[in-house]
Amino acid sequence: MDFSIKAFGQPQELASTKVGCIALGVFENQTLSQIASQLDQSGDIAAALKGGDISGTPGSSLILRKVRGIAAERVLLIGLGKMNALTEKGFSTAARALSAALNNIGAKDALIAFPLHAINGRDTAWGIRQIISIAFDQAYRADVMKSKRESVSKGVRKCLLALPAPEAADARIALAQGLAIAHGVELAKNLSNLPANVCTPTYLANTAKTMGRAHKLKVQVLDRKQIQGLKMGSFLSVAKGSEEPPKFIVLRHTGGNAKDAPIVLVGKGLTFDSGGISIKPGAGMDEMKYDMCGAASVLGTLLAVAELRLKLNVIGIIPSCENMPSGRANKPGDIVVSMSGQTIEILNTDAEGRLILCDALTYTERFKPAAVIDIATLTGACVTALGHHNSGLFSRHDQAHDQLAEELLSAGKATGDTAWRLPIEDAYQEQLKSNFADVANIGGPPGGSITAACFLERFTKQYTWAHLDIAGTAWRSGAAKGATGRPVPMLTEFLIRRATKQKTIARRR
Ligand code: BES
Ligand code: MN
Ligand code: ZN
Repeated sequence: MDFSIKAFGQPQELASTKVGCIALGVFENQTLSQIASQLDQSGDIAAALKGGDISGTPGSSLILRKVRGIAAERVLLIGLGKMNALTEKGFSTAARALSAALNNIGAKDALIAFPLHAINGRDTAWGIRQIISIAFDQAYRADVMKSKRESVSKGVRKCLLALPAPEAADARIALAQGLAIAHGVELAKNLSNLPANVCTPTYLANTAKTMGRAHKLKVQVLDRKQIQGLKMGSFLSVAKGSEEPPKFIVLRHTGGNAKDAPIVLVGKGLTFDSGGISIKPGAGMDEMKYDMCGAASVLGTLLAVAELRLKLNVIGIIPSCENMPSGRANKPGDIVVSMSGQTIEILNTDAEGRLILCDALTYTERFKPAAVIDIATLTGACVTALGHHNSGLFSRHDQAHDQLAEELLSAGKATGDTAWRLPIEDAYQEQLKSNFADVANIGGPPGGSITAACFLERFTKQYTWAHLDIAGTAWRSGAAKGATGRPVPMLTEFLIRRATKQKTIARRR
């Protein structure tokens, strides 16, 4: 679907626009939205409401053909709930009904004239982004591996969002942001849903390279030899159990000044996590193809950042490998030397995410970053703690880190891609003591997602850092199994805000 903004002066301009369909909002109790009543010169729409043909509850819908005084072939009425009580939830339900209807009618183009300014607690920009996010979500099909692609919708191709002329400029910005996020989410979902025999570390590296060529990102892929040269003993120890060669992927978006400190995103890229010698139970093990969702979110976010040409330096780092049992695999009790020099006793080979991330976090020091955020499907314990609604957010508890955490939490709320903060405290570090090495890679069952974060914290002393545990939010299980593309919306929003803040500071100087 192709979206654009249609600026209008008088509502009459909308009535005379020749399109296959015009979508209008109506409320409960037979009430028309302001625009709908302005366009309803003939009274045909009011009559349909009076006749009880649409209830007006969120998501209810009705199609009228050839309404007098309206040039569009069809008028699609969508219920928005109670007047003056248009909630976020009600609007989203309506947007889903809108999108479903547009996908199933004969029209090729549509004009959407919704009261986007009237959503309680949200603004017009949010309304625009929500319509786009829902449209992309509904159109998404994970069918590249099916011999017959599911039939794509034959409905509306071209969507115009009607906005009063003075709001059009802001609306175009919101539209561009909504589309960039939707494209980033789509890329993350596509990569994540691929099976592990297709989406290997090499595949992720090639995807990064292709993306780099298309969007002017500098992309560097390090192979095993180069990773050895960097002395990433911890990362390599996980990779060595698999036949698939590991890749260390670096992508750079240089939208800021050369001297501006970059924001670095580090994504866990386990293209399959069998657990290794500490092998996982068979049931549901297929879902460990999703153990690269952190990496996918880094690629998705960089795509969005590049598309928006954000005036900001952003670096994506992806350590990628498989965790497999084999004669060469890590064994419980093995001790490895990380790039930082810290030695690690691997008490459980299934706690491998932190083993590859710690070296990537040490590598990140060289960029002297303004902030570092790692994104990882790190612990089942995080799913137990927070379920599937919030990602786990961890960072140290001082002023700089509190600010970074607040920015991420707020960007999450703005995009509906929320996180919940959990503690990082020295008391938990006790659980990671090893008799034989500097640190153990597991801290026992209590507070499993916190001890995992505390393990990573040991490798992030040189910069301001936050960790997102997305084990519960990156994909859905069961009948609707599939990747969500989270946390691309949160991360992109966070970066958009950083870029605009940087710009206003620059202007003030
Ligand atoms: N990738 C898993 C975490 C995971 C498990 C995410 C299930 C989503 C669903 C991670 O590598 C892992 O296996 N973690 C272990 C850690 C444990 C051995 C300390 C876990 O959570 O069980
Ligand atoms: Mn694991
Ligand atoms: Zn894992």
